[in-house]
Amino acid sequence: MSGMAMISMEWPNDLVSWVFLASLVVVLLQLRQRSKLPLPPGPKPLPIIGNMMLMSQLTHRGLAVLAERYGGLLHLSVGRRHVFVVSTAEYALEVLQAQDAALANRPATTAIAYLTDGHADMAFAQYRPFWRQGRKLSVTKLFSQRRAETWLAVRDESAALVRAVARRSGEAVNLGELVLSLSTNVIFRTAFGTRVNISVGEYIGVLEEFSRNIIAFNIGDFMPWLAWIDPSRRRLRETRKGFDRFIDKIIGNHIRRGRSSTDTEADIVDEMLACLHETKPTAGDAVDDRHGSLCLTRRNIKAVILDLMFGGTETVASSIEWAMKELLRNPDDLRRLQQELADVDGDASGLDLNGSCFEFLPFGSGRRSCPGMALGLHALEFAVAQLAHGFHWELLDGTKPSDLDVGDAFGLSAPSAQRLYAVPTPRFTCPLY
Ligand code: HEM
Repeated sequence: MSGMAMISMEWPNDLVSWVFLASLVVVLLQLRQRSKLPLPPGPKPLPIIGNMMLMSQLTHRGLAVLAERYGGLLHLSVGRRHVFVVSTAEYALEVLQAQDAALANRPATTAIAYLTDGHADMAFAQYRPFWRQGRKLSVTKLFSQRRAETWLAVRDESAALVRAVARRSGEAVNLGELVLSLSTNVIFRTAFGTRVNISVGEYIGVLEEFSRNIIAFNIGDFMPWLAWIDPSRRRLRETRKGFDRFIDKIIGNHIRRGRSSTDTEADIVDEMLACLHETKPTAGDAVDDRHGSLCLTRRNIKAVILDLMFGGTETVASSIEWAMKELLRNPDDLRRLQQELADVDGDASGLDLNGSCFEFLPFGSGRRSCPGMALGLHALEFAVAQLAHGFHWELLDGTKPSDLDVGDAFGLSAPSAQRLYAVPTPRFTCPLY
């Protein structure tokens, strides 16, 4: 046998050669796969890591910059994942309407899968019977226009917000924090039939930790063979322990209260507890297909509660804070709104936000669009109307409206980077509430 043949037949016996060979195989496989796919334009990927060097730019702002360069449908290769970014109305319509059924599964990272206990919730459930039933339940038991408690909660909590602001007349108030309390109380009352009986600060800390985990970068999501170097496991366990305490309390209160699901006062947790089926093992199978009825485990109930807390608190608060910031930045608009409210000309938005105008999709569109849209919009309009109607607003220390910071942070709802502080004085001498 020749020397050449000897070399090609022998297996390497050192680690470096194995790593080299393995990397070579991965590169060749990736190149072969890439060359086969007719992909949309995007930044040129490197072998193995693809466009991972751009990771820090993959926020809503960074993606907008990339879209200007590569167009409304662009492709990124992040490790072994293909990422497609859609940023024009035409492509949004294609994805969220024309191809809605094919694209109805939300991708979930390792952190999301862990925090939702393996997609046991609604927001990250696979597009299967469990999701359909859960969605039906939430629409009838939480978001139905007929559910008086939902709308009453918005009214009462907005009144409490106005009273809290009025008590601080002439002082700088942290509007961002106040509206976060408002949205927390609205969600707790509408979804869990109670006002927050825990520290709002602690609750918000838990939500913030949850947000941080959800957007944190974990290499294992893009290169599964490197998942072992991710340091996130312990952090995720701590986060889950944090919100488990809140959720167990909510479930415990409902079990003690023992309200039947047919009770008119029953909320979504009572309704879910009525479907409790301790022996069903997984989220995806949590529907008895023969009867079309919902069987939930405690895992599902906890994960859906988490969805409602997480999906409904920061989103509502940050939209109110943004609306107030825009009004304080544009005093003419604030005056016009105050005049319209005095004339009781109801329609504050005039925009179609329900997912059929693809230029504006604050609540998404299609099958997975936001089930809380009516509640979110109602809380937003009601709170902003009350704050605008009830008070004159000044900025701090002679800040000019045009100097107000409008930076945003990367997160679930692109919240305002700087909390909004402003000084209220009542516009009327009679108490509003
Ligand atoms: C102004 C307030 C809100 C905004 C801007 C907002 C925005 C959104 C968006 C953009 C989506 C994704 C839609 C898609 O993929 O097409 C979504 C989904 C969702 N939202 Fe909201 N949301 C708000 C309020 C709420 C409230 C109050 C709740 C519940 C209490 C809620 C619960 C959910 C849930 C559970 C989903 C997942 C739905 C599914 O996958 O089937 N949201 N929301």
